[in-house]
Amino acid sequence: MIELQIAHTADLDTAALGAARALLYDVFDDMTDPDWEHALGGVHALVWESGEVVGHASVIQRRLLHGGRALRAGYVEGVGVRADRRGRGHGAAMMQALERMIRRAYDLGALGAADAAGDFYAARGWQLWQGPTSALTPEGVVRTAEEDGYIYVLPGSAPLDLSGELTCDWRDGDCW
Ligand SMILES: CC(C)(COP(=O)(O)OP(=O)(O)OC[C@H]1O[C@@H](n2cnc3c(N)ncnc32)[C@H](O)[C@@H]1OP(=O)(O)O)[C@@H](O)C(=O)NCCC(=O)NCCS
Repeated sequence: MIELQIAHTADLDTAALGAARALLYDVFDDMTDPDWEHALGGVHALVWESGEVVGHASVIQRRLLHGGRALRAGYVEGVGVRADRRGRGHGAAMMQALERMIRRAYDLGALGAADAAGDFYAARGWQLWQGPTSALTPEGVVRTAEEDGYIYVLPGSAPLDLSGELTCDWRDGDCW
C-alpha cells in the first residue's frame, strides 16, 4: 500500500516527522540538524509504504531578492527517496504536488540541488540560475559563490533574469 500524504508541519505527529528526519539522515551523508530545521514550517509531501516513510520533500516560504523586489519564494527542501525505492515515480509524485502549490501560491519556486539531482529538476521545468548568488546576512549582502551553478528556479508570475543577481534571506546553517 503506497500513499502520498500532503500535510503542513503542524499536522504531522512526532512519529511521522521523526521518520521523515531519519529518512533524510539515511539519504544524505552530510545531513545536519539545521538542514532538517530548514525543511520545517511549510508543507511536506511524504510517501508512505507499509507504514514506513520512503520519500520526503517539503516547500517552505522564503524571500528572494531579485530585480529590486523581495519575491515570495516556495523553497523546496529535503527531497529524498529511500535508495531501494527510487525509480518508481515517488520523487516525481512529491515534486508534482509541491510544484502545484508553488505555481498557485508563490512568485517563483527555488531550490539548491545536490550534485547528482540537477537533471531530475531540469527535466521537470526547473531552470538553472545563471547569475551570481548571495545571501542577505546580518553583515549585509555576501556572495555565495560556492552555490553558483546549483540553484534552480521554477519560474512563476515574477519576471526573472536568470543571468541577474539572486539573493536569499538569512538563516542558520546553509543559506541556500
Ligand atoms: C532525486 C530523487 C529524489 C529522485 O527520486 P525517484 O523516486 O528515484 O524519482 P522518480 O522515480 O520519480 O523519477 C522521475 C524521473 O526522474 C528521473 N530521475 C530520477 N533521479 C534522477 C537523477 N538523479 N537525475 C536525473 N534524472 C533522474 C527518472 O529517470 C524519471 O525519469 P522518467 O520520467 O523519464 O522515467 C532520488 O533519486 C533521491 O533521493 N536521490 C538522492 C537524494 C538527492 O539527490 N535528492 C535531491 C536533493 S536536491
